[in-house]
Amino acid sequence: MKKYVVIGNPLDHSLSPKIHNFWFQENKINATYNKETLVDEDLENFIKMIKDKKIEGANITVPFKEKIIKFIDILSDEAKNANSVNTIYMSENNIIGHNTDIAGFYLSLKPETINLKNKNVLILGAGGVTPSIILGLRMMGVKKIIVTNRTKDKALKLKERFGFIEVLNWGETAKANVIINTTSVGLDKTDEIQLDESLFTSDTFFYDVIYNPKETNLLKKAKNKGCMVQNGLMMFINQAAASFKTWHNIMPNVDKNLIKFLQND
Ligand code: ATR
Repeated sequence: MKKYVVIGNPLDHSLSPKIHNFWFQENKINATYNKETLVDEDLENFIKMIKDKKIEGANITVPFKEKIIKFIDILSDEAKNANSVNTIYMSENNIIGHNTDIAGFYLSLKPETINLKNKNVLILGAGGVTPSIILGLRMMGVKKIIVTNRTKDKALKLKERFGFIEVLNWGETAKANVIINTTSVGLDKTDEIQLDESLFTSDTFFYDVIYNPKETNLLKKAKNKGCMVQNGLMMFINQAAASFKTWHNIMPNVDKNLIKFLQND
């Protein structure tokens, strides 16, 4: 039986095993998918398991999306551009590192919900997933991308790679049509990001990459103020589907039943 895993730390919130095992059943694939909580020192041995074909493929999540890169033989263009890997597998004795977060984000925003062309976007956070969001937004033709992060240096590092972004001090405000939370603040139900009240205008679209809990305090507040909101579930599903396609060459079904099944936790 083929073995797949997601590695990260912490992994309590991950729905990756649930979605991949669901698709295995649906597509009659004889495989298992589990969570493995690792620390940095485990990465080398973990890669060896992939090389030895003990593990067929893996999703990589926080905080390893960048740290795993030094062990990868070949990076896809997406992974190279984002400097972030969330999907790995072996091909002809090489470890391949791919990024499906960019596509996951891009596909999660339906034009009938919001058209990002020429919009000003404020990104909160400069962690592992932020480069993928920046690249997805570029593909959508946004006008301006402003990044603010508690540790400003990390936002400035992003600016070295993506010269087109603007960087703000944490706590400073800028006018934006779209506000995207890429920080981990909200994973805990009591977490709350302190944002200036002036940002919560009813024509602002709030997006949180967090999908579990379903509604972070940020989204709750934005919704109360009459703003449109979206959580990270569709991004999660779309990145998982793209990983599944990469490993099994089958595009899995994404429908209302799947969404209901995932939300039913
Ligand atoms: P990493 O920082 O290792 O890439 P991550 O989970 O991908 O890990 O990113 C976490 C993001 O959430 C970062 O932007 C982090 O800000 P710092 O760079 O200042 O650490 C942000 N974050 C986490 N806790 C936060 C908090 N209490 N307030 C504000 N931002 C926070």
